[in-house]
Parts: sequence; C-alpha cells; structure tokens
Amino acid sequence: MTFTQEDARADLVAAPGSEWWRTAVIYQIYPRSFADASGDGLGDLPGVTAHLDDLKDLGVDAIWLSPFQRSPQKDAGYDVADYRDVDPIFGSLGDFDAMLAAAHERGIRVIVDLVPNHSSDQHVWFQEALKAAPGSPERARYIFRDGTGENGELPPNTWESVFGGGMWKRVTEADGTPGQWYLHIFDESQPDFDWTNDEVRAEFRDVLRFWLDRGVDGFRVDVAHGLIKAEGLPDFTPDPDGGSMGGDAEEVPYWGQPGVHDVWREWHEVLAAYDGDRALCAEAWLPTVEQTALWVRPDEMHQAFNFHYLETEWDATALRDVITESLRAYGEVGAPSTWVLSNHDVVRHASRLALTAENPQGAGIGPNSPGKPDPVKGLSRARAATSLMLALPGSSYLYQGEELGLPEVIDLPDDARQDPTWFRTNGERYGRDGCRVPIPWTADAPAYGFNDTGASWLPQPAEWADLARDAQVDDPSSTLTLYRSLLAERRVRDLGAGELEWLDGFGDDVVAFRNGSLLVIANLGDDAVELPAGEVLLASGPLDGDRLPTDTTVWIAAA
Ligand code: GLC
Repeated sequence: MTFTQEDARADLVAAPGSEWWRTAVIYQIYPRSFADASGDGLGDLPGVTAHLDDLKDLGVDAIWLSPFQRSPQKDAGYDVADYRDVDPIFGSLGDFDAMLAAAHERGIRVIVDLVPNHSSDQHVWFQEALKAAPGSPERARYIFRDGTGENGELPPNTWESVFGGGMWKRVTEADGTPGQWYLHIFDESQPDFDWTNDEVRAEFRDVLRFWLDRGVDGFRVDVAHGLIKAEGLPDFTPDPDGGSMGGDAEEVPYWGQPGVHDVWREWHEVLAAYDGDRALCAEAWLPTVEQTALWVRPDEMHQAFNFHYLETEWDATALRDVITESLRAYGEVGAPSTWVLSNHDVVRHASRLALTAENPQGAGIGPNSPGKPDPVKGLSRARAATSLMLALPGSSYLYQGEELGLPEVIDLPDDARQDPTWFRTNGERYGRDGCRVPIPWTADAPAYGFNDTGASWLPQPAEWADLARDAQVDDPSSTLTLYRSLLAERRVRDLGAGELEWLDGFGDDVVAFRNGSLLVIANLGDDAVELPAGEVLLASGPLDGDRLPTDTTVWIAAA
C-alpha cells in the first residue's frame, strides 16, 4: 500500500482545542545553511530530506523552512521573485514534494515561510511597474510616490530602511527622465507591496492555496507587522539605538497598523477551508505582549513569535514577568504562547546571553564589537535557558544548530559577509551572518559534513569540529543529548499542554515553577541554591551535590 499525504494528515488531525500547533516544538531550518546535497556550498531541499531522521531522533514536532522560493538572493531568499516555484539553488518543486512527503511519513509537520510585505525587484509585477507610467495599475501594486523638493529630487518622506540608509529609491521613467520613488522597508531590491490593493490581496490568497494544495501545514509570515502603512505616510525617524525591526517605539507609521488584522482574517478563512489544522505564525515585532496577542485572536493568526521573551535579558525577575504576562495575554485570546530564543535574525543565544554591551537586534557582533561574550558562560546560560523554555506550556521554536550549542561566529572575515545590513551601513553594523554559518554534522569530514565537497557559503570556524553532531550524539554531557532528553521528557509529560504554577521560596535570582508532574528550577544568581527533595530527571549542567550552581536549570519529578 502506498502511503499518501492524506493518510499522514488523517493520523495527525486533532480534536478542537488540542491542535498540534498549540504545543508543538518547531525547528527552524535555514535551508542555505542546513545541509548541502549538491555540494555547491549552499544547502538545499534534498539536504533537508537526507537529515529528517536526525530531526525525528531529536524529537521535534514540526519544521519551519526559511524561504526557498525563486529569488535573486539579495536578502538570502527574503526577496522572492516567484512565490510559486523553488529556486534552482535549493532544488525543484519535485524536491519540495519529496521532502514534504518524507517529513509527513515521519510525523513531522512542515511550515513554509511566506514573504508578503515585499517582493524582489525581479518579480514580474515590479518589472511591469518600472515599465508602466505613474498612476498605472501596474504601479499601484507597489508604493510609488512623487518625490518632494522642487523637482521631486527628495524622497517622499523621512523613513529609514531597516537595513540602513533611506527607505525610498528613485526610478528612471521609460522616457529616461528621473521619475517617481518606491518604498522599500528593507533593501532597495525588496519593494513593498501596497496591501490596500485588492489585486495584491487576491494574489496572496492564491499563493497560500498553492502551498496548501501541496500539503504544507502552515506558514511563518514574514514581517507581518509591516504590510499596512499609516495613511498619508507621515514622517518618522526611528530611535538609532532601537532594534531595527521595531518593537521599541509606541507609534511607528509602518509597523503594526490596525488595518493588517483584516488581512489575517482573510487568510484565516483560506486556511480554515482546508483539513488538518493548518496554521499561521506571525513574525511581528510589536511594543508589547498585549498588542501581539491581538494578532492571534480566534479568527486571525494561530501563533505569533514571542520576541518579548527572546529579548528578555538573563534576569530572573524579568523572565518571571515576561512569562506571566505572555501566559495571561495569549491565554485571554485563547491562543498558546510561543517561546523562542534564537533565529536567523538575532545573535545566537549561546552568545547573546553572555554579551556585556548593548546589542540591538540586527546589529550582530564582529571582531570590533564591544562586550564580546565569554563562550563558556554563554553556553551554560544557553543550556539553562533552553531547559527552562522547553518546560513552559505552549509551543516552542528552535533554530538549527542551537541543539549543538553553536555560538555566534564573531570572526567572519569582512569579505565573506553577505547580509545587506553590512553593505547598507558601510560595515557599521555587522548584521546577521554570524548566526547563519552552515552547521556541522561530522567532525572529520569536508565542511563538517555540510556537504562532501568542502564548499561553504560562509566559512565555518575550526572549533566547530568538537560541536559536530557526530561528536555529540553519544556523549551524555553534550548539548545535543540535553536537547534530546528535554524533548523526550517534554513529550512524555505533555508539558506543552500543561499549566504553570510559580514556586516561591528560592530567592529573587531563581525562576522556579511547577508544570504538572514536573518541578523546574533555574538559578540565575551567583550563589548555588539548595535543591528540594525529588528525583532529578535532567540538569542543564553539573550539580554541586544537592545544590544547584549558577546558570543551571534542573527538572525534578514532583513528589
Ligand atoms: C524578516 C526576516 C529577515 C528578512 C526580513 C526582510 O525579518 O526574518 O531575515 O531580512 O524579514 O524580509
């Protein structure tokens, strides 16, 4: 008998209220850096398929793939030229279907990235817009405006690109004269769509159906807070010390505008017409948890990344507060909270948690950055932080390589860097390449088993031999073993569906809670703390007799 995608889906369908995405652990694959079957130095979809058994063994419920659609790769695939095709560097639609079927056979769900805020400037619509006249329907799919100044030589407003520089680029009209300007929140190769245009909205509903028909379980929606811009495009200058994606200032005319909720309601309907609990997850950097929770009301998205959790410093009071607030705010709208510590846009948490200087999101760290992290402290904190996170009720996201304890790569040579941020700020901000280096599978192989040719689009550090998967898999004290144990225990105890109850009496520097049959104690203070009685199931680092050392988390079976 052949195993079809329908069979897989039938096995996976859940009762209302217990949909898979409420409790899932979702592993982010950054395809260009995961595994490279073709050997050209860039990862690909057959590489993903080849390692699905490793992900099954790790114990994740789902994977999210960063963009693999057709793209000139000006922003590592977040500049899409054709939303309905696979870029040849990653393989073909056939490779995608094979990967999806192989994942479903293993009970692993698949979420794909969708980039609706902007396309690539190579997208056929943008090329048509460039050729068409001001005021034409072709231009109306994007945000074209006349310039200011005497001859339109100044941009329409003061907005600044997330990647540095201005947010507008002037075009040359078909007759060769300097013309209108178009808006790009990100690189100039990423023009923003006009989401008040019905044609744009219809097109994206159709793109959703294209991937849903192929069998995907949902979408991670890129820059979901950017689609709608404030009426009249009023001037705004961002705080230079803030994170580049927003989330700091209260009112930003291109982030989190209320009109975006109608889009999610339309998309919710599209997904609801399909069987199998398909889900939408918002990438939305908003000022408060409270505001983010509005994005996951019952008729909108299903999940939103909890960047407030990700951005919380390594401080027990701050962590207790953000966890309490998240469970409350998301709970009030009937959505799960999500939890996340790393992704392809932030400094890996094995480094970030030990930084000793301010480091706004998107800035990255490099050879000349202040406050570089102590790697040993960083890894202890990362192991403790993940052990805390995976005990929380709700759904968690992991980023490829964190299960190996990978740090941020700080010493990348300047000429290897590829993040547009690096170029657009003339090297003032290092950007995000340091968390995107191809991951090590085999200590003793070319490119650490990323492929078998040794090619790698970013150079891998020599120290990564010790962190390769095969060097960790049989080591009981390795980070990989810790992750596998955490995920197995989480599953057995159904922690994702549990409830959190705070435990008092451990002091201000300790985060302690109960989730069902589990006690979780994380010590963020300088002094070791006395452990309560009970069987220690797991510890993120060595214990000191019956005391819990600094930067360590323990899971104890409740009496
Ligand atoms: C999102 C992506 C990031 C990308 C940006 C523009 O924030 O996660 O990698 O550069 O959107 O698409």
